Amino acid sequence: MVRAAVIGAGFGEQHLAWIRDCPGAETGLLVHGGNRARAEKVAAAYGVPRVSSDFREAFEDEFDLVVVAAPVHLHTEIAEEALRRNKKVVCEKPLALTVESARSLAEAAGESGTAAMTMFQWRFHPAFGALRDLVAGGGLGRVVHVDLQFHHDFLAGPSTAFPWRHDRSRAAAGAFADQGVHLFDLLNWLTGRDHTVAAAASSVAWPTRTTAAGQPLAAGTEDAGSVLLTSPDGGLATASVLRVTSGHRRLRVTVSGTGAVASAEVCPDTSEGRLDSSAADRPTRWPAGSLENPYLSFLAPDTGAADVRIPDFAAGLAAQRLLEAAVAHPPAVLSE
Ligand SMILES: NC(=O)c1ccc[n+]([C@@H]2O[C@H](COP(=O)([O-])OP(=O)(O)OC[C@H]3O[C@@H](n4cnc5c(N)ncnc54)[C@H](O)[C@@H]3O)[C@@H](O)[C@H]2O)c1
Repeated sequence: MVRAAVIGAGFGEQHLAWIRDCPGAETGLLVHGGNRARAEKVAAAYGVPRVSSDFREAFEDEFDLVVVAAPVHLHTEIAEEALRRNKKVVCEKPLALTVESARSLAEAAGESGTAAMTMFQWRFHPAFGALRDLVAGGGLGRVVHVDLQFHHDFLAGPSTAFPWRHDRSRAAAGAFADQGVHLFDLLNWLTGRDHTVAAAASSVAWPTRTTAAGQPLAAGTEDAGSVLLTSPDGGLATASVLRVTSGHRRLRVTVSGTGAVASAEVCPDTSEGRLDSSAADRPTRWPAGSLENPYLSFLAPDTGAADVRIPDFAAGLAAQRLLEAAVAHPPAVLSE
């Protein structure tokens, strides 16, 4: 039996659901940062017996797995201590605030020899798996260009439920940290190539937001961003992220090769997906609910053949390098 402690009761709820659906795993503790009523409600819904506001309780001996789903500035401290205590660790993306911290986490994971995963869950959607197989199998020819888009509306409009997301010292970045790192990881994973950021620009749509308590908040992180990337073998990629596209949500990756083009698109809400390719007569489709549970792979018994989809902390570090380069210049501010 694997016993987990989950830190963070926002997206942490998704982790509770994934762990609940794994045979031989359960969550024994849910940690929050002050919103106890919400944490208690979430804990009750998933049968979690204990709620706390102190993440150090996650390091107790009874827990084998620590899940870090708190705001980004807390990731390194919690994940490092959990690794030091030889616990399995699942850490949300982006792995850390800086490349330096992400590198230290990746090194700590390597030295500890314990299992560690960065939560890049989109690798576990069969549409992206099929796209990767097409690329790796040479079905598209040599890859000339990859276009990646992750557009969402969870911060459309001037209010915000997430004050920390607008502050680089707690979030690392804005839309590049929310969605961009998923794209950077997919780019690395789909192509098997290292990429370098050649150019990037970003913009803040709402420089002053309103918190849930009705207070004005100076918003300093980008709501939209675009990146141009290159790989050493002459390949190109473009990535765009938006978190303010009212009424529109899209996660799409198009790979253009010398022989054919393929495009995988997944609905971020339902995980319904499709793969279109100029090499095939008709699209392949996957119904809603097709995102596989990453914990089923991560917690599977060791058979000596690790699932290549599992994004380790080295993958988290690789995406962090691109994130840091993408936000090297301050964002512009969209005019009123
Ligand atoms: N993989 C994904 O698709 C995905 C999606 C959403 C969020 N995330 C990541 O999950 C993390 C949390 O984001 P969120 O959307 O859940 O934010 P959120 O604001 O909704 O939730 C953050 C949670 O952390 C708790 N917290 C804050 N300070 C804490 C502390 N000192 N100790 C313990 N808990 C504390 C808060 O009480 C809250 O429960 C971020 O790293 C974010 O990037 C990933």
